[in-house]
Amino acid sequence: MTTDSPAPAAAAPAAVAEKQLAAEIASLEIAEDPSSDQQEQKQEQKQEQKQEQKQEQNKEEQMQVPPHRSHDPKNNQKRSDPFQFGSRYLTEEDDVFEFNAWDHVETDDAYKAYAEQQYAMQRAAPVSEFDKHRFNSDPAKWWNRFYQNNTSHFFKDRKWLQQEFPVLEQVTREDAGPKVILEIGAGAGNTAFPILAKNKNPQLKLHACDFSKKAVEVMRNHESYNPELMQADVWDVAGEELPPGLEENSVDVAIMIFIFSALSPKQWKKAVENVYRVLKPGGEVCFRDYGRGDLAQVRFRKGRYLEENFYIRGDGTRVYFFEKEELADIWTGKKFAKENGDADEKEGVPFSFEIENLAVDHRLLVNRAKKLKMYRCWIQGKFRKPATQNTQ
Ligand SMILES: C[S@@+](CC[C@H](N)C(=O)[O-])C[C@H]1O[C@@H](n2cnc3c(N)ncnc32)[C@H](O)[C@@H]1O
Repeated sequence: MTTDSPAPAAAAPAAVAEKQLAAEIASLEIAEDPSSDQQEQKQEQKQEQKQEQKQEQNKEEQMQVPPHRSHDPKNNQKRSDPFQFGSRYLTEEDDVFEFNAWDHVETDDAYKAYAEQQYAMQRAAPVSEFDKHRFNSDPAKWWNRFYQNNTSHFFKDRKWLQQEFPVLEQVTREDAGPKVILEIGAGAGNTAFPILAKNKNPQLKLHACDFSKKAVEVMRNHESYNPELMQADVWDVAGEELPPGLEENSVDVAIMIFIFSALSPKQWKKAVENVYRVLKPGGEVCFRDYGRGDLAQVRFRKGRYLEENFYIRGDGTRVYFFEKEELADIWTGKKFAKENGDADEKEGVPFSFEIENLAVDHRLLVNRAKKLKMYRCWIQGKFRKPATQNTQ
């Protein structure tokens, strides 16, 4: 085990360190598809190979990585436990730059100060009223452009989903019987197609919806698109209708991966209400999205701030960063009851999901060459429509 060696940024006086951190973070390329850790794993595998060679050469330096903070894929719990988010624990004795990634790491003081400074700068230079209207009036237009400019390879295939959400494995078993999955904001199908690839259930129907016509086109043209099992449609989750071919109480599992963050806060209530309507009693939502403080939020520069925690990206698409408690209030309906001035009665709120799991996935990614620490933050949840409906 190596001793802890502070990053150059931490060793410099605070102001200089923050400036340095700001410049270097701004110049970083970060993956927009944060939940796939394939790259991390590859890099780690390379490092492990090197490490093994080194260990061979110098038996005296040979060391065992304790399983509780294992970067050894054989021990890493992420391979088996949903909502555990890995077991690469960083302790005080560790050299943070020894590996590329650590799990469950809270931000350090230098990063917190940098983040607060960034938020203040962002608020002071919001998007102009003209641009707010341009981006908010037709958000599908910007996503259409996105899918026109990017191929289906833009997001990585989300192969980890069955592991994080075991229900997806259950409904795709050979003997699962008739089951309906609805993926909302399915994009290019990077979640839907991996599910189809693993599916053994001949009675599965997978509806993959997106409000971008271009995204739906990409899915329908995919080589694995099979209309017997899958139906890709244009649908706005915050609109008035239910998805084509689906009725109230007809869906077993809804999947929402990095789609809720694309909605404006004004659309949340309608969207959750629609998901509630379309799910069967007892049906569940598999949810993953951005958490507040994620590097992608902290990095936004001037002219990107729409409202608190809500931004416009360079390509015109919108993104929100959630607090865990906020998401709980949204999905239970408490948020909207509070807005109506009645937190207990849920007056006028026609849904209330049960929160079965809701957890923050903090990960520290390390750029070892630049000695940079990058804090990523995502939120994952499992919400259930009560088996006995509790609409009033
Ligand atoms: C960040 S992408 C995620 C795509 C996909 N879930 C994935 O993980 O690969 C967000 C997607 O949500 C879609 N979207 C945004 N607002 C929507 C809405 N109101 N109704 C349906 N889809 C929407 C966008 O078109 C885009 O495809």
